[in-house]
Amino acid sequence: MHFQWYPGHMTKAKRMMQENIKLIDIVVELLDARVPRSSKNPDIDQLANNKFRLVILNKADLADEEATRQWENYYKEKGFFVVKVNAQKGQGIKNVKGAIMEACREKMERDRKRGIMNRPIRAMVAGIPNVGKSTFINSFAGKACTKTGNKPGVTKGKQWIKINKDVELLDTPGILWPKFEDQTVGLHLAFIGSIKDEIIQVEELSLNLIKFLKETYPAQLKERYSLPEEELTPEQTLSHIAEVRFCKKQGGEVDFEKAAAIVMEDFRSGKIGRITLELPE
Ligand code: G4P
Repeated sequence: MHFQWYPGHMTKAKRMMQENIKLIDIVVELLDARVPRSSKNPDIDQLANNKFRLVILNKADLADEEATRQWENYYKEKGFFVVKVNAQKGQGIKNVKGAIMEACREKMERDRKRGIMNRPIRAMVAGIPNVGKSTFINSFAGKACTKTGNKPGVTKGKQWIKINKDVELLDTPGILWPKFEDQTVGLHLAFIGSIKDEIIQVEELSLNLIKFLKETYPAQLKERYSLPEEELTPEQTLSHIAEVRFCKKQGGEVDFEKAAAIVMEDFRSGKIGRITLELPE
């Protein structure tokens, strides 16, 4: 399998990100908790070079809790502030404000010493497509927050959402693209649905996922599809799933594509269980 993104979009998004990053103090970087390595854009460390950093492990509701703990520690050890959240349900969101302030403590103290009292921390959300940026911004900003108007000079044309007296958030997130030098990254992003299924082979994809689940989360896979005791190959497993889920074409032929789509959907919506696809080294 080979994965690629569209270079035109990438260039535009990167330029936007470079412009916006000049205006902010802290980058709130969203990662998908199921793939905290593959959903991280390596360029961001360079882009956000002199900025404060906060890593959000989003979609934590879909990820393996023990693995999420390991990833939290991993990124903390690398010097990031880390919060795990479920932006869809708002879980963990209340910890974000505190983490932003904690991460920017140095700046706040510096400002205070210089007698600058009313300059809020400016934050920007960034992440790859589909990681939950819009959902997160809505959840974090909440209903009570008012959008501040354009600020002449410094932030012309930009909309800032006032979170509280100390924190303002840029309303448009920075879009980053993942790096596909390693094909595992492409595969993992395809598993979670970050790459549209039309451009990839859903059957092949599901066989790859079944192979991974057999090795790493066999009990969950077995339970979900009432798999027999004997060892099945990924192909036999898909065939079994097609049978128990009545995936048949009109002539009675097995509909593998439909079974494959069921497996992908079940996995992406967490029905197979809370699964993390990669662990820290
Ligand atoms: P983006 O701006 O980064 O591109 O992502 P967006 O917020 O559009 O979110 C992408 C999908 O991920 C949405 O689902 C959203 O509901 C879902 N999502 C975001 N945060 C979480 C989370 O913490 N947990 C879970 N389980 N899902 C999350 P969608 O299928 O596009 O739409 P819908 O399911 O909301 O209808």
